[in-house]
Amino acid sequence: MSLAAAPAGSIDWARIRADFPLLSRQVHGKPLVYFDSANTGQKPAAVIEATDDFYRRHNANVSRAVHMLGTEATEAYEGARRKLAAHLNVRANELVLTSGTTFAINLVAYSWALPRLQPGDAILVTRMEHHANIVPWQLVAERTGATIKVADITPDGALDLDALQAAMTADVRLLAVTHVSNVLGTVNPVRDICRMARKRGIVTVVDGSQALPHMPVDVAAIGCDFYALTGHKMCGPTGTGALWARGEHLEAMPPFLGGGEMIREVRFEGTVFNDPPHRFEAGTPNIAGHVGLGAAVDYLGAIGMAHVAAREAELLAHLTGEMRKVDGLRIIGNAPEKAAVVSFLVEGAHAHDLATLLDLEGVAVRSGHHCAHPLMAWIGVPATCRASLAFYNTHAEIEAFMGALSKVRKLLC
Ligand code: ALA
Repeated sequence: MSLAAAPAGSIDWARIRADFPLLSRQVHGKPLVYFDSANTGQKPAAVIEATDDFYRRHNANVSRAVHMLGTEATEAYEGARRKLAAHLNVRANELVLTSGTTFAINLVAYSWALPRLQPGDAILVTRMEHHANIVPWQLVAERTGATIKVADITPDGALDLDALQAAMTADVRLLAVTHVSNVLGTVNPVRDICRMARKRGIVTVVDGSQALPHMPVDVAAIGCDFYALTGHKMCGPTGTGALWARGEHLEAMPPFLGGGEMIREVRFEGTVFNDPPHRFEAGTPNIAGHVGLGAAVDYLGAIGMAHVAAREAELLAHLTGEMRKVDGLRIIGNAPEKAAVVSFLVEGAHAHDLATLLDLEGVAVRSGHHCAHPLMAWIGVPATCRASLAFYNTHAEIEAFMGALSKVRKLLC
C-alpha cells in the first residue's frame, strides 16, 4: 500500500481504520470510541504482525551472536533505526534508540547537561511542558546549582514568543520545549524557536512525543540540538522511542548507563566506550519493539504524514465545532495551530466523573492532570477531560461522542 502520493480525497479512511483490530471491539456493550490516542495510540495489524514475526522467526540478541538468527535480529533492529532516521530526515548514527521520550530526555539531562551546567546557569522550560520535560531539568538544577526559568503562555494556550525571546538571557544554556502540547494541542513553532535560541548559543531539546503521530516532522529542518520521541503514540509498541542528537553532542557525551553493548573494550584499569549511538544503548534493547516501530514508520509512511495531518485537521474542526455548541463546556487550548487534542471542562461536573460515565457509553477519553501539574495550576483546575484523536477516528465517532456527552451531562449537571 502506498497512498502517500495519492490525492487526499481518494483515501479510503474506512479501509485504513480496518487495519486496527482493537477498534472494532465493544466496551460495556457499546462500540468503542477511542479518543485517547495522545495517551497511547492504537496499533495496526502490520505492527502487531511484525513484532509477532520477530519472536516467531528471528528472535536472537543483537550485535553479539555470529549465528544466523543473531545476524537477522541485528539487521532487523538496525533496519528499524534506519527507517526511523529516514522518517525524521536525520542520520541513523545520530539516532539513539530508547524506551521512549522520558529516557531520551533523561539521557540529555544526565549526559549533556549534568557535566556542563554550573551555578549561574539557567535552564529555560515552558509552562506547557509534560513532567518528563520538567523533572529531569529540576534534578540537574539541584545537582549543578543551575536555576529553572519558565516561559509563559498566552490565554489561548499558545507560547508567548515575545516572552520566550525575552527569557533567553545570557545565563540560559538550555531550552526544553515541547513540539506539541499534550494538554492544549498547541503546535509550537519549534523551527523559529530553535533559530532564536541558536543565535544566542542556547542548546535546544524538543519533546516530539505528541508531534510525530500527527504531522510530517523534519528534524533536520527544525534545527534543534536534541529531539526526543516515543514510539507508542505513533502506532508503535510501548517501550520504544529515540533520541536524535547532533553528532558533535553525541561524540562529546559520556555514557548515561554502563553495561554490555556500549563498550569497545573493558579492563579493570578502565573501559573504552563504543561509538554513538551504541554508546548510549547499554544492555539488551527492546529489539522486537523497535522492529514493530520500524513497521509503524512503514505504515505511516505509506499513508503519508501530510494525509494524516489533513485528515486529523478535518476531524478536529468537526469535533471543536460541535463542542463549542455545548452550553457550559469550556475548551482549554485554542491556539491557532493545534493538533487533534481537545481538553475540556464541563461546568458542574468533575473531569473524572465525566470520563467514568463516558466510558460506560463506550467512549475512552483521558481525565486528570495529564502529567502537567504546572499547566493545570495555570488553568486553575486539578484536572481536565481530554479527547485526543488520530487519523483512524471517524466523523461518526465524533457524533457518538457528542451524544454520549449530552447524556452524561444530563446525569451530572
Ligand atoms: N501519556 C501522556 C498523555 O496522556 C503523555 O498525555
